[in-house]
Amino acid sequence: MAEFGIAAPSVKVAGNKPATATGKALSVVALRKTYGDVVAVDEASMEIAAGEFVTFLGSSGSGKTTTLMMIAGFCEPDSGTITVGGRDVTRLAPQKRNLGFVFQQYLLFPHMTVQENVAFPLTLRGVPKDEIRRRVGETLEIAGLSGFGGRKPRELSGGQQQRVALCRALVYRPPVILMDEPLGALDKKLRDQLQVEIKTIQQELGLTVIYVTHDQEEALVMSDRIAVMRNGLIEQFDTPRELFERPKTPFVADFLGAANFLPGRIDKHDGEHTLVRLTQSGTLLKARRHDLPSGTEVKVAVQPGRLRACATDDGFCTGTVEMATYVGTLVRAGVRIDGGDGPLVRLEVPAGRGPVAGERVGITADADDVNLFPTDEKAG
Ligand SMILES: Nc1ncnc2c1ncn2[C@@H]1O[C@H](COP(=O)(O)OP(=O)(O)OP(=O)(O)O)[C@@H](O)[C@H]1O
Ligand SMILES: [Mg+2]
Repeated sequence: MAEFGIAAPSVKVAGNKPATATGKALSVVALRKTYGDVVAVDEASMEIAAGEFVTFLGSSGSGKTTTLMMIAGFCEPDSGTITVGGRDVTRLAPQKRNLGFVFQQYLLFPHMTVQENVAFPLTLRGVPKDEIRRRVGETLEIAGLSGFGGRKPRELSGGQQQRVALCRALVYRPPVILMDEPLGALDKKLRDQLQVEIKTIQQELGLTVIYVTHDQEEALVMSDRIAVMRNGLIEQFDTPRELFERPKTPFVADFLGAANFLPGRIDKHDGEHTLVRLTQSGTLLKARRHDLPSGTEVKVAVQPGRLRACATDDGFCTGTVEMATYVGTLVRAGVRIDGGDGPLVRLEVPAGRGPVAGERVGITADADDVNLFPTDEKAG
């Protein structure tokens, strides 16, 4: 049965990798939650390995918090199972699940010092005083907060308060830590700094983290794998690179890289490649091999950073540069493709080699960077 003690007090703190019986830190099978007619989470399934940093990424209302709250035990699923370290916790109370939490609001106890706040989970678990002092000291040091133990939360900056909240979750070494937009209340510079700090602590201690954000850059920076959520469904669960380079749906292609979408039709297959006739320009474009029959109407998806401007004879189509914006290391250009109306094709090219407004250009891409989606699939 469930034990209350959780991490034994004698466990060595720094560098202690939380081990699980199966190597799987957490698994979720067909988790579902409805509120009346709203399906907040629809049959979510995933397996997370010990030591992995996984992020739920999606727009507002996509079901990220609901999924996390079901894992945490604060929200009861309609159906499905949750296993932590090989143990079914689906019907267990939150405090029996052996998980740590960090929320967007720090939720520190205002009347307690930093030391007392961080000690709280250990005090609750009856850990001896000496042991508490030692472990709180070690944890504060990891988070760069040594010397702040005697202060009250109101005497700290937002970033420091969030680090205290992180320490409170870390201090009893739960094998899995859940974080719901923990940096949401902080300004950009502090967010960037704490992203790196959280990631460093996670790697040094071998923690398993499930992190929620709607900021795609944050997700890309921090995660080993990202679950892209949409309307309660996990659209794709993959590494950042796979999501970016091999999106399984137009939604993922758009959400992660703001892909260009050009209408076309499969012309033929040629060895490793698939040739697509672009509707607007009538020209042919080479994509990596896709198993769609000739004649299939497709959306051609290419990330702006994977397109290049070239001589008009060399590209898969030609056009006129309508705008070119210098943004530091990059030039963002919008090209009006020849042959009828269509949205501007967006390019991001290294500054210095960027095209200028009014210039006639060809556009090219490596076949491997061109993704195709059947047009009749659900829209992005
Ligand atoms: N207690 C509740 N009662 C009714 N509907 C709810 C409740 N909690 C969540 N929902 C609905 O479930 C859906 C998913 O909500 P959830 O909070 O999981 O989204 P989210 O992805 O975390 O969004 P955000 O980025 O805004 O935090 C939404 O449509 C929301 O309105
Ligand atoms: Mg939320």
